[in-house]
Amino acid sequence: MRKLKPFFFSFLLLFYGAVGAHDSVPLTVSESNEDFNHVSSDFCEASKRHRFVPSLSVSDEKTSLLALQITFFPNSGFVIGITPHHAALDGNCSTLFLKAWAYACSKIMQDPSLSSLPENLTPFLDRSVIKDPEGLTQWFADTWLNMNGPNNRSVKLWETNSNEAAQIDMKSVKRVFKLNPSHIEKLKNYAKSKTGIVKVSTFSVTVAYSLSCLVKTEQPENENIALLFSVDCRSRLEPVICPSYFGNCLLTRLVSEEKEKVMANEGFVTVLKGISEVLIGLESEVPNDEEKRFKKAESAFSEGKRVYTVAGSTRFGVYGIDFGYGRPKNVDVASVDKTGAFCTV
Ligand SMILES: *[C@@H]1O[C@H](CO)[C@@H](O)[C@H](O)[C@H]1NC(C)=O
Ligand SMILES: *[C@@H]1O[C@H](CO)[C@@H](O)[C@H](O)[C@H]1NC(C)=O
Repeated sequence: MRKLKPFFFSFLLLFYGAVGAHDSVPLTVSESNEDFNHVSSDFCEASKRHRFVPSLSVSDEKTSLLALQITFFPNSGFVIGITPHHAALDGNCSTLFLKAWAYACSKIMQDPSLSSLPENLTPFLDRSVIKDPEGLTQWFADTWLNMNGPNNRSVKLWETNSNEAAQIDMKSVKRVFKLNPSHIEKLKNYAKSKTGIVKVSTFSVTVAYSLSCLVKTEQPENENIALLFSVDCRSRLEPVICPSYFGNCLLTRLVSEEKEKVMANEGFVTVLKGISEVLIGLESEVPNDEEKRFKKAESAFSEGKRVYTVAGSTRFGVYGIDFGYGRPKNVDVASVDKTGAFCTV
């Protein structure tokens, strides 16, 4: 396992060599005497895991792309923590980075002269592949620049919560709920029979089910709730762009509901209908009206709705990442402890 660090440098050379760019990626190596079985279990205090998450060094002018930390648990295992800067890359890319690093580690053990990464793991950086006839790039750039003071070019991270809220969250315990294929099949069949919708995705049933349970448990005081989620657009643009496109290629979509409807018995079906409508809209057209949608998502917060967000994606395939020591026992998105999102992996 100690080889993870030296291999990291060989890997970075390959990764950056592939794109012809250079940047430093800070890697911290530490050791922990916590009980590995406990911190990697399905039921663990959120605060215990934050020690395995590196902090990103970021000032107003400069930031690392991402930071990494490996924490060793003598004789039992290791944890890899990654903190990406979301302005530079989305979840798809941070997963790509980990997949490429894992690939290099497991290959370099057999062949130290490994000189390239396979195409699907090679970051693709050519921004010109994105056609933007509507001038959305400029609109988004201007909007972000003026969101926190006029012409604010700071790359610092947003504080998502007050300190008080962050402290409360640090006391919380995280729980993993597993939906196996037969659970998902059941939810899909139920959703189809209740709504008449023919194509129901794994994403929509998983998120609708989790959200309806969460709202029932949390019983927020707000009258209305909203669900904000990201949609990967790599395959939705015209022309389609490369799956390993390295950057952000996301749209956000919003579903709003009355809380009472989600709390009711058929809350799952209500949310599912909302999500399905959004997804069907995306199937039938290229992304449109993005300025309007962005403003609407923004106003969901100011209108006092309880806004739920989803982090991660089951499509990233994080449980398939293998550094040569087997698959991960547990994958967690630590940022949800601050943002109050829930994550699907
Ligand atoms: C610019 O934004 C950063 C955070 O994104 C904030 O810390 C800073 O105070 C802002 N600067 C001004 C001049 O508003
Ligand atoms: C990124 O997204 C593309 C398109 O949706 C997908 O094919 C690819 O597997 C994703 N990559 C990762 C690392 O999850």
